Amino acid sequence: MANLDHLITEAQADFAACDTTTALEDAKAKYLGKTGLLTDALKGLGKLSAEARPAAGAAINVVKKGVETALNARRDAILNAAQAEQLASESLDVTLPARAQSKGGLHPVSLTLQRIEQLFHSVGFDVATGPEIETDFYNFTALNIPENHPARAMHDTFYVDDAHVLRTHTSPVQVHYMENALKQNKTPPLKIIAPGRVYRVDSDATHSPMFHQVEGLWVDKDISFANLKGVVQDFLQRFFESDDLVVRFRPSFFPFTEPSAEMDMSWNGGWLEIGGCGMVHPEVFKHVNIDSEQYQGFAFGLGVERLAMLRYGVNDLRHFFNNDLRFLSQFSK
Ligand code: DAH
Repeated sequence: MANLDHLITEAQADFAACDTTTALEDAKAKYLGKTGLLTDALKGLGKLSAEARPAAGAAINVVKKGVETALNARRDAILNAAQAEQLASESLDVTLPARAQSKGGLHPVSLTLQRIEQLFHSVGFDVATGPEIETDFYNFTALNIPENHPARAMHDTFYVDDAHVLRTHTSPVQVHYMENALKQNKTPPLKIIAPGRVYRVDSDATHSPMFHQVEGLWVDKDISFANLKGVVQDFLQRFFESDDLVVRFRPSFFPFTEPSAEMDMSWNGGWLEIGGCGMVHPEVFKHVNIDSEQYQGFAFGLGVERLAMLRYGVNDLRHFFNNDLRFLSQFSK
């Protein structure tokens, strides 16, 4: 039987010429396939004599092993090269600093509202809400601001249609709340704050067309202006964490309170206006069927952005609404 040793070198050369595993499998067929040279040689063993067969078989197997070894070596080389190429193209620098997760935070106005609600809640005020699109009746008439009343001119109103407005203040929530309370047979004491968005045609460094107010209302027998002063002063002292803070009540006019006052608080040696207040006007009680001979109440309205600006030292109201993360992220904890 012919010597087959040369097949190993031939196979090595054939395999070395293959760049892909597919090409390699094709090249393998020539030697080890069903009709490959070595397969044929093994089949030829049957024609040999019984004495010659073992040695010839062993010799073929040695060559077969050699070819297989060459095949496996080439296959590994091709796969390693492919992997190296992939690693190089997808290189990943594990020493780079990690990208930080950016955590969300509450808006400074939301933080301020939360603080206001907490402080009033701690002295027994519930939180009430009302619609932002109001009827002319709730926004004005029920608050003793009838049609053609000059007080309407104090509010630069956005009209939705003839009968609806974007509420210009949170005071209409007083009316909704008292009305609903009586419908549910709930009688005074009624003690709420009503925080929320309000709208006015106005825009500059201290005015925005949308801003927030918090309304306060406490109705009971024997509620007086003294209670109003105590509640507001206590709230502001706690809000600003300052026992020295003084609140001044300046006589003023609001159609839905009598007497009415403007509230100023001491700030950096001067006075800052922070809202309006007064004793609920009998006309308002009349609209909601509360007997003003039996009950009195006080009401107040505070500007939320104003409180936030003072507390955080922000000098332009518009920062709150520009959504600039450089500003907003300073408030997230
Ligand atoms: N609603 C008034 C405004 O927006 C503020 C106000 C004044 C509210 C006096 C009150 C009040 O409850 O008693 O201008």
